[in-house]
Amino acid sequence: MVDPNGWDRDVSAPTGPQHSPPDSFVSQANVSDADVYATFEDTWPECWERAAELLEWDRSYDTVLETADAPFYRWFDGGRLNASYNCLDRHVESGRKNHAAIRWEGKHGETRTYTYRDLYVEVNECAAALRSLGVEEDDVVTIYLPMIPELPIAMLACARIGAPHSVVFAGLSADALSTRMDAASSEYLLTCDGYYRRGDAFNQKSKADNAVIDLDQDVETVVVDRLGEDLPHVLGENERDYHELLEEFYGETVEPVSRDADDMLFVMYTSGTTGEPKGVVHATGGYLTNVAWTSHAVLDIKPEDTYWCAADIGWITGHSYIVYGPLALGTTTVLYEGSPDYPDRDRLWEIVDRNAVDVFYTAPTAIRAFMKWGEEYPNRHDLSSLRLLGSVGEPISPRPWEWYHEHVGNGDCPIVDTWWQTETGGIAVSTLPGVDEMKPGAAGPSLPGIDARVVGAGGEPVEPGQAGYLTLAQPWPGMVKTLYEGDDRFVEEYWRRFSDPEADEWVYFSGDAARVDEDGYITVLGRVDDVINLAGHRLSTMEIEGAIADTDGVAEAAVVGRTADSSDTEIYAYVSTERRVDDEAAVRSRIESSIESAIGPLALPEAIVFTPELPKTRSGKILRRLLEDVANGEELGDTSALRNPEIVGEIQSASRE
Ligand code: WT7
Repeated sequence: MVDPNGWDRDVSAPTGPQHSPPDSFVSQANVSDADVYATFEDTWPECWERAAELLEWDRSYDTVLETADAPFYRWFDGGRLNASYNCLDRHVESGRKNHAAIRWEGKHGETRTYTYRDLYVEVNECAAALRSLGVEEDDVVTIYLPMIPELPIAMLACARIGAPHSVVFAGLSADALSTRMDAASSEYLLTCDGYYRRGDAFNQKSKADNAVIDLDQDVETVVVDRLGEDLPHVLGENERDYHELLEEFYGETVEPVSRDADDMLFVMYTSGTTGEPKGVVHATGGYLTNVAWTSHAVLDIKPEDTYWCAADIGWITGHSYIVYGPLALGTTTVLYEGSPDYPDRDRLWEIVDRNAVDVFYTAPTAIRAFMKWGEEYPNRHDLSSLRLLGSVGEPISPRPWEWYHEHVGNGDCPIVDTWWQTETGGIAVSTLPGVDEMKPGAAGPSLPGIDARVVGAGGEPVEPGQAGYLTLAQPWPGMVKTLYEGDDRFVEEYWRRFSDPEADEWVYFSGDAARVDEDGYITVLGRVDDVINLAGHRLSTMEIEGAIADTDGVAEAAVVGRTADSSDTEIYAYVSTERRVDDEAAVRSRIESSIESAIGPLALPEAIVFTPELPKTRSGKILRRLLEDVANGEELGDTSALRNPEIVGEIQSASRE
C-alpha cells in the first residue's frame, strides 16, 4: 500500500477563496440549521432515526443499531419495509400519482415521461412477470441494461418481490457479466437487443448470449426490444420479449414483500485489489434511509424539483442518486441515455434548459471536459432554473470547481463535492449546502452522523495538513453489509487494517488517502490500493493485468494509473513479451481484444509500453509504484531495492515514445 505522505501529484490544498452559500439558497434549504452537527454527535446513533423518518416502515425497528456481530452491524434491527413501496406506492397514495417520476431523454432526442402512477403500473407488471418466470424472494436477478426506463423499472420490480438485483454496467463484456452471474448464482437476466452508442446500433444481446453460454446454471432471460428494426433479433429457448411478457400481466398488481431492514436490497459488483470483483451487499433499511437522507440534506431535493444526476445506473452513483434516493423523496428524476457531446457539446445544457432542472449532479471528469470545450456551450442556454450543483467520483480541483460555479451555476449555486464509495452506499463527506462554507478543492467535513477520520499508519489522527488514510470510525446506515458469499474477505478488505478486534473496536478503511484542515475539511487525494479510478469507474489493476497476461506472447504485465494533462486518469500497461515474439503490433492488438473481452472497452489502456523486463525487487515483486512514477514523469526515488535497476532508464525512454 502506498504511503500517503509520498503524495505530491497534482493535489494542491484548497487555495482559492471560500464561498458562502447565498442567502436565497439557505432560506429554502432542507437543512439550514448548523446545530444539526451537534445534534447528530450528541445523540449518535439515535440521530439516524430522524433520517429513517423519511421512509415508511411496515414495522418499526426495535433497535437503531445492533452491534453484537460487529463489523456485521444491523441497522434498524427488527424493522420491516419495502423499497419499491417507499419509492412508488406511498407517493401514488398521497395524491401525487400524476407527478412526473422519471423523465427519460433518449439518445436520438426521443423523450418519455413516467408519472408515479405510470411507474407504479409498469413496476407491478414487471414484478408479476418476474414471478411468473419463477423468481422468488432472495433470488438474485441480474440486470444488464443501458440507460433506458426499463432499467430502474426492473430494479424496483425486484425490490417489490424481495429479489436482490445485481445490475451489471451495460458496457462491461460478456465475460464480466458471466463472472458476476456465476458469483451470485443468478438464474435470471434482464437485457436488451442493443442500444445506440453515439450514432451506431450496438449489439448487447450477443454479449448476453455469450455470457449465458458460459454458465453452469440455466438462465431465464427477458429481452427489452430497444432498437426495433435497427437490430432485428431472434429469441431462443428460455428467452422472452419484455413487452410481450408484461402484456400478459396487464394491469396486475403485486403486494410489496415486507423485507427485514437487514435483508439484501441489491448486490453491486465492484473492483477490489484482487482480480476477483467483489459483490458489495446493501441491506434494505439502512441503505434506503441513508440515500433518502443524503438526497434530502446534501442534494437538497424537494418533491417538486426536477433533479438530474448525469451518471449511469450501472454504477453505485446511479443506484443511490438516480433511482432510490430521488424516488424515495418523490421527486422527478431525469434519466439520460446519451453522451454529453452528442449531437453537440451543449447537449446537457439543452436538457437542463428544456426540463428546467433544479439540481444537477455530475463527475469532475465531465466538468473538466466542459471547461475544455468552453463556456460558449452553457452560454447557449438558460440555466437559471439551477439551484444546486454536485460533483462526485474523484477529487475536483479548484479551477474546474470555479468554472462549474461560474459558468453552469451562474455564480450563485452552491456546489457540493461529495465523497463516498460503492461501499458507503451514500454520501459520507460533503458540505451541507444550506449550512457550510465551501472550500474549492476540499470535499468538506464528515456529514452529521458520520465519523470520517484521517489517520496515520498506526491509526492515530494526523495533524491538520498532513496526509493519511481516510477511515470511518463509526458505522453508518448505508454501509456495505458484507461481500456476497465473502464474509471473510469483507472483514479482511475493510476492517482488518485499522481495527482492534480484541477490544471490539472497528474502524472502516476506505482505501483512500486524504488530508484534513483545521476546520475538519477533508481533501481526498486518491486510492492507496491497486484500484484505478477512471472517470468515476473503478477498475482493478490486477483485473486488467490478468487479461493482459492471458494474451498469447505476453510474459508479464503491470498496469498503473497516469494523470494526464487534463487531470483525467489514464491506464498505462507495461508489458514484457516472451522471447520468441517479434511482432509487437500483433501482441498489442491481441492484448486489446483480450481486455475488451475480459472487462470491456472502458479498460483499454491509453498506452501499452513494451519492455524486456519489469522492475522487480530482489524477492521478485513487481514495483508498480516505480512504474507509476515513470508513467507520471516523476522523479524516481531510491531504486536500490531493485534486482534490475538498469531496466528503469530503458522503460523511461520507452514511455516517452
Ligand atoms: C472512489 C469510490 C461514489 C460514487 C462514484 C465512485 C473516489 C468518490 C470522490 C470525491 C475524491 C472521490 C474515491 C473513492 N471518489 N468521490 N468527491 N473526491 N474522490 O464509486 O467506484 O465505489 O469509487 O471514488 O477514491 O474511494 P466507486
